[in-house]
Amino acid sequence: MSTKGARDYRPTMHYAPPTGWINDPNGLLYENGTWHLFAQHNPAEPVWGPMHWRHATSTDLLNWQDQGIAMYPDEKLGTIYSGSAIIDKGNTSGLGDGTDPMILVYTHHGETEQQSIAYSNDRMHFTPYQGNPVIPNPGLRDFRDPKVFRNERLDCWSLVLAASDHAEFYASDDLIHWRKTGEFGAKENRLGGVFECTDLFPLTAPDGSTVWVLVVSTALHPAFGSGRMQYFLGEFDGETFRETMPSPLPRFLDTGYDDYAAVTFANTDRRLMIGWAACPGYANLMPTGDFCCCMTYVRELGLVDTDTGLKVCMKPVTPDFDMREAEQAEPIALVPRGSIPVHESALPGELFKIHVTAKGCCTLTLYNDEGEAFSVSVDTEQKLVVDRTHAGENGFSALYDSGICAVSGGPRSNFGEVSFDLYFDRMIAEVYLDEGTVVNTSLVFPRTPYTHAKLCGEGTFEIG
Ligand code: FRU
Repeated sequence: MSTKGARDYRPTMHYAPPTGWINDPNGLLYENGTWHLFAQHNPAEPVWGPMHWRHATSTDLLNWQDQGIAMYPDEKLGTIYSGSAIIDKGNTSGLGDGTDPMILVYTHHGETEQQSIAYSNDRMHFTPYQGNPVIPNPGLRDFRDPKVFRNERLDCWSLVLAASDHAEFYASDDLIHWRKTGEFGAKENRLGGVFECTDLFPLTAPDGSTVWVLVVSTALHPAFGSGRMQYFLGEFDGETFRETMPSPLPRFLDTGYDDYAAVTFANTDRRLMIGWAACPGYANLMPTGDFCCCMTYVRELGLVDTDTGLKVCMKPVTPDFDMREAEQAEPIALVPRGSIPVHESALPGELFKIHVTAKGCCTLTLYNDEGEAFSVSVDTEQKLVVDRTHAGENGFSALYDSGICAVSGGPRSNFGEVSFDLYFDRMIAEVYLDEGTVVNTSLVFPRTPYTHAKLCGEGTFEIG
């Protein structure tokens, strides 16, 4: 039992383990009305440790039913690192018992990192394949996190995995015998660092064309925040990915520090993604007691044209909120002239949504009686700025508390009027600005719940 923290920070609508630790989402898959979510898991303690896969299911992507531990470390091959799942339509692997099996493709992390598979015919029990590994290590220290998908182009299975400073692509007819088909990223990586948890999928652009998106979680030195997700836009010819729309600056999927290792669900036409809502650099130290870490809301991905080009946009799957207008409060008088309009509202609890509209710069602040405040601003330089410097407990980690990770954000993709949504669930704040093309996930640990929200600027907000 850990002694980390006293207050209950467990979110209500974001998946968290009953006890122990989770990190990356794994094996995301939809089948017959059930959403499957697995997570990197250490059952023994609320800190990173020997990796298992924990299993949870949901019918609405909000309420998650814990299903216990699905995968245990293997004595010879090692612990169970990240990976993905697929329904093996047509039983190409031969591992089905007369029906199509669910196949997990994952990394065994032991003396080396190698890719293995496991199968399930009832979707609750998972049996490692006797002949593991199916992709042995080619001599790389970092070689992990296979994301498997159906390759319509070559009519086979494909997977993308993270191999040191690049992504590698493999193809197979039976999910057991794999051949390497390509590599991407050693030159194109705009962040440096080691690739982790890659994902590759097509999205339809507003002009009707298909654009392939390669998402890469990138492990960085803590001085740069320790983990960020970038994405590349381009083509997949069935064998490899090519970037056709390079951007001079990295494209970040999330401008906050608390969204990492995000990947998408298999076996559904909707492109739905979920991320590990934490930062590798300080997650271990968070003051949440006997559980540690949760997932983000599930987010539906699309592509939109913005003032700054084609961008991936995200729209979260959330509970329905009954929205009402905030009250007009005393404006802040400015000396010698003018004043800033202020709107204010009491908060309806610790699970809520706030929708802000404003002409331009504005700051939304959540606060409590302890003098703790968390703010989301659009500043005069057209940037989103999320500030948790005085938001609550922060002494647990120098990195969280430092100038590096206390404030986050990034440039807007649309100019002009401001419109954003803030979703809050006890310790997790998610901001969606500019049609969800500028997203920010930030964890905060207020010592007592925030009681009020206040908007300063020419605008107003609705709350529910
Ligand atoms: C990303 C990651 C993966 C790895 C897993 C281990 O957070 O480092 O690359 O498979 O976590 O828990």
